Amino acid sequence: MKALVLGASGATGKLVMQQLIKKNIQVRIVVRDSAIIPTQVSDNKAIEIIRGNINDFELVKIKELIKDCDTIICCLGHNLSFKGILGPPHKLVFNIVVKIIDTIESQNLNPKFILMSTTAYTNRKLGEINTVGEKIVFSLLKFALPPHKDNMLAADYLVYKIGSQTKIEWVAVRPDSLFDEESKSNYEIYNKKIRSPIFDSGKTSRINVSDFMVELVTNEKLWDEWKHKTPVIYNKFNNEKGSVQ
Ligand SMILES: NC(=O)c1ccc[n+]([C@@H]2O[C@H](COP(=O)([O-])OP(=O)(O)OC[C@H]3O[C@@H](n4cnc5c(N)ncnc54)[C@H](OP(=O)(O)O)[C@@H]3O)[C@@H](O)[C@H]2O)c1
Repeated sequence: MKALVLGASGATGKLVMQQLIKKNIQVRIVVRDSAIIPTQVSDNKAIEIIRGNINDFELVKIKELIKDCDTIICCLGHNLSFKGILGPPHKLVFNIVVKIIDTIESQNLNPKFILMSTTAYTNRKLGEINTVGEKIVFSLLKFALPPHKDNMLAADYLVYKIGSQTKIEWVAVRPDSLFDEESKSNYEIYNKKIRSPIFDSGKTSRINVSDFMVELVTNEKLWDEWKHKTPVIYNKFNNEKGSVQ
């Protein structure tokens, strides 16, 4: 089995890569020329490293990247710096989602495609609605923060343009507020958001996001359950509203 991981130099992408390796899955990663690769990664025969900026890759290069992959996991996101948030490319995630889906369609490929999305995405097709307060905040974010708009466009593309009546198999995983923890802990998966990402946000550890994504890769029953959906993932804490044990 082989998986392509995009954003593997990032905080979640690197955990996804590590967990795939632990499951004996070959991994191909694309990292920018500036990325410093630890020797455990560069020396690991199970990891193929492609240097370059995924945002600049033409369709022909995308085809080379994905043609022998069973899974593609996209953990790309805009860097949390002034340049990363406000500078180009404003549609980093959306553009790569479109290119990957186009290539899967045109080449008649059949990989699983997993997008790291966010609870800031409201899946109206599922009947999720924003409160007036959320609508105001999300409108401001869409206007002021290009990365937010990018994430919304990318998920909308899968939900509305690709949908479920298709051979293309995708899942958009929606973590709430991300944080880091050493090891995997209990978490819960919901079809819809159970709390406001703006006014009552929950927490999701990156390691749990990566665990769920890798489970989707290896567990066919889980994949069938969540295929064409936008599952929401929250860490499960004791005595906390919405994610009680
Ligand atoms: N923060 C939250 O609470 C939260 C909650 C839910 C969802 N999310 C979403 O989750 C995603 C991943 O989060 P994370 O914390 O794991 O991200 P991260 O650590 O910032 O990783 C982002 C990845 O994207 C790459 N990247 C950034 N800008 C790029 C560009 N212009 N061209 C090519 N590659 C680029 C980075 O590469 P380099 O290493 O080369 O920079 C890195 O590999 C993001 O989309 C974020 O919006 C965040």
